[in-house]
Amino acid sequence: MTDEPSPDSPVPGIAPEQFLRMITTRSVMRTYSERPIAPQVVDALLQGMESAPNAANTQAWSFVVVQDPRNIRRLRSFAPGVFGVPALVVMACTDNSRGLEEEADKAARSMCVAMAVENLLLTAHAHGLGGCPVHSFRPEALRLLFDLPSSIEPVLLAPIGYPASEPRPSRRRARKEFISYETYGQHTPVSRTR
Ligand SMILES: Cc1cc2nc3c(=O)[nH]c(=O)nc-3n(C[C@H](O)[C@H](O)[C@H](O)COP(=O)(O)O)c2cc1C
Repeated sequence: MTDEPSPDSPVPGIAPEQFLRMITTRSVMRTYSERPIAPQVVDALLQGMESAPNAANTQAWSFVVVQDPRNIRRLRSFAPGVFGVPALVVMACTDNSRGLEEEADKAARSMCVAMAVENLLLTAHAHGLGGCPVHSFRPEALRLLFDLPSSIEPVLLAPIGYPASEPRPSRRRARKEFISYETYGQHTPVSRTR
């Protein structure tokens, strides 16, 4: 493995191996120090988040960035999945007023939000921050608390902060249990040299 930028890398200075290391060293963080996050770092997090792929570029999403400690405390009382006291929480929502009305579109909107949250978590990790996607919360309580209009539906929360403990890598299943090649259940890749 080398840190030398690959000639194939579209971003000078970032080798694919370095990028992969960034992704594979992220793990969920649920305890946070009291250190605040500088505004320019918050801006970088949002930049990473908003650049996520999304269906037909409809960007049918809406995010509420909660940083006031009183609002974080209120939010936590309706979100048992949020542990510790993060410096900020992003409430990631679908914007159901955008895109088509079909039911299939509803699922696509949620997928877009999930992709944005993953981008957010990876950008946070690149800045030395930790975070966690959280689905355990009471959406209707948060709707009232944060004045969400009826078209805005919270899908995931993302508490973010500087870690108060060493991140513990989560175990992954053996690849052969969930990756097939060409047809389901075939675990040996077909070699392609052409
Ligand atoms: C859709 C989704 C919902 C999750 N909800 C919660 C949650 O409510 N509370 C929580 O503590 N962690 C939650 N997690 C975090 C997972 O537990 C965590 O990502 C998983 O254990 C794998 O660990 P890793 O992120 O370190 O790889 C959620 C993750 C995802 C993707």
